[in-house]
Amino acid sequence: MTIRRALGSDVKKLYELEKKLFSKENFPLSQSSIRYHIKNNLLYLSESDGNIVGYILVLIKRKNAKLYSIGVDETHRGKKIAKKLLEFIFKELASLGFENLLLEVRVDNDGAISLYKKTGFEIKKILKEFYGDGCNAYLMELNMVGFKVNI
Ligand SMILES: CC(C)(COP(=O)(O)OP(=O)(O)OC[C@H]1O[C@@H](n2cnc3c(N)ncnc32)[C@H](O)[C@@H]1OP(=O)(O)O)[C@@H](O)C(=O)NCCC(=O)NCCS
Repeated sequence: MTIRRALGSDVKKLYELEKKLFSKENFPLSQSSIRYHIKNNLLYLSESDGNIVGYILVLIKRKNAKLYSIGVDETHRGKKIAKKLLEFIFKELASLGFENLLLEVRVDNDGAISLYKKTGFEIKKILKEFYGDGCNAYLMELNMVGFKVNI
């Protein structure tokens, strides 16, 4: 399994994965959004035998970093792929000088919440009726200062 930055040539395959991961109600990213994020934000993917099996997207706005999305193909779950993607991005962000990473997650997404807690995120706030269907969100935060590595 390798992790690398996504390229323009990955858009189609990433879009296929995105549609499998997120139903219409969850607003999967369009091909043009994926293309935009590859150019303007941090989009990394995990590959196994030439197939994209997972990805992570972090939005960068000035000094703030927000984990927008992470997903692993259903047939490859439970193999620590998401954990490795997160740890990879923590090091990347720390070496770029970011100190904190924020995210919002649906309070009913037990798997993702457990993953985030396991990788060091803490719940900071409940955001009431954050999602279109009325579901609340947790605002979670991770301090990345300890992840800095010398390259
Ligand atoms: C959440 C998701 C990314 C996890 O991917 P994954 O590669 O299977 O996760 P990992 O194998 O790296 O899991 C690492 C740890 O996270 C936790 N975890 C991950 N999925 C879990 C689940 N479904 N239930 C409970 N804990 C879970 C566990 O603590 C796990 O450690 P363990 O295996 O030692 O118990 C994957 O289930 C997914 O793509 N879900 C759909 C998309 C989504 O909801 N993304 C998050 C919101 S954008």
